Amino acid sequence: MDKLGSLCKRRGFVFPSSEIYGGIGSTWDYGPLGAELKRNLKSFWWDAMTNRRDDIEGLDAAILMHPKVWHTSGHVAEFTDPLVDCKRCKRRFRADDPSIKGSKCPECGGELTDARKFNLMFKTFMGPVEDEAAVVYLRPETAQGIYVNFLNVKNSSRQKVPFGIAQIGKAFRNEITPGNFIFRTREFEQMEMQFFIHPSEDEKWFEYWREQRWNWYQALGIKKEKLRWHQHDHGELAHYAKTAYDIQYEYPFGWQELEGIHNRTDFDLSRHMQASSKDLRYSDERYTEKFIPYIIETSAGCDRTLLTILVDGYDEIEVKGETRVFLRISPVVAPIKAAIFPLVKKDGMPEFAEKVYLELKKKFKVFYDESGAVGRRYARMDEAGTPYCITIDGDTLKDETMTVRDRDTMEQTRMKIPQIVEFLEKKVSGL
Ligand code: GAP
Repeated sequence: MDKLGSLCKRRGFVFPSSEIYGGIGSTWDYGPLGAELKRNLKSFWWDAMTNRRDDIEGLDAAILMHPKVWHTSGHVAEFTDPLVDCKRCKRRFRADDPSIKGSKCPECGGELTDARKFNLMFKTFMGPVEDEAAVVYLRPETAQGIYVNFLNVKNSSRQKVPFGIAQIGKAFRNEITPGNFIFRTREFEQMEMQFFIHPSEDEKWFEYWREQRWNWYQALGIKKEKLRWHQHDHGELAHYAKTAYDIQYEYPFGWQELEGIHNRTDFDLSRHMQASSKDLRYSDERYTEKFIPYIIETSAGCDRTLLTILVDGYDEIEVKGETRVFLRISPVVAPIKAAIFPLVKKDGMPEFAEKVYLELKKKFKVFYDESGAVGRRYARMDEAGTPYCITIDGDTLKDETMTVRDRDTMEQTRMKIPQIVEFLEKKVSGL
């Protein structure tokens, strides 16, 4: 993780937030390569979940919602972690922290307080008066924005159950123990989809979405042997879930949750229906009675998936006594799709390379580099995750072909510009 953190800083994937002021606990900023990687990742998810399907609509709801939403959803009462304080050093721990032995502080040996519930939601104030009436919460999950818009989306899109609503957006949790780089942070992005179904079909759709989401990580190029399922037992289940499975990944710090798939039953819609007095039941000509749809939720963390891509792709190879870093990430999400190099800075090669660069730039994020030995240029691109390097050499000027080098196989194939465009289009779309 340390090596990955320093690569991310050096190459501009991720920086500590507010670094010139010493940083602020557990928030991170995405640099030029990181922002591009994140954008590609979100597009890949959005594409799979909405554009390539007819039964899922997109939504972009506000972060600040009516406070009643969070009372109704159960988050004000239930979205808590048990917390203990050290009476001596004042440090705080989750009561279930495995490093706690008995009632002693794992840092200083001081006495710990009894466990108390600590709500993870951030509060702020809306409007000019800082009193209780104006308290609003930063959303701890994007899901509620979907539930309160269920009728709006259904009526405007004319979708019929089974159908889904997908959303990507920021969520905030005042985590007691954030850490492991961007794995657990207090501000993060979620990619969530809520699928509305007839209650009698919940098990079928739950299995369907487990399979879909598992396959999505394969399409993203994540190593299969590093993924596994974890079913929540009764004690682990969130307050809204009947059944829940996590897709876990084996990080350098152990197996941990990457995405959650939950059967939320009619818990959320029933409660919102009761609290808002709006009829959220569903009916169409296929059913004799109105019903409150059940919801199958797929909930992925965007930052956590990005971390997974980096961890999964990180590779080191010894070349002539030197450690070379390769970021073997899928062309679908790679920040730079191809780099273009003239072999040498003479004989018309830079001019030809510039032409290739300008042509490819119309369709792909590409990078032009003519400085230093070509081996160094390859190395810089390998650690930035660039899957292809295109080199213009002496033969290019004779027959217009250039070498396209594959970062992972090291194979070099000669192609002309139209072939390269076709090749990149295919690789970048993940087809
Ligand atoms: N709407 C359901 C829900 O929010 P969750 O299991 O609490 O479920 C879903 O969160 C996903 O969001 C997690 O699998 C993880 O990828 C991401 N996530 C949750 N808390 C996070 C945090 N503090 N930092 C980064 N990602 C987080």
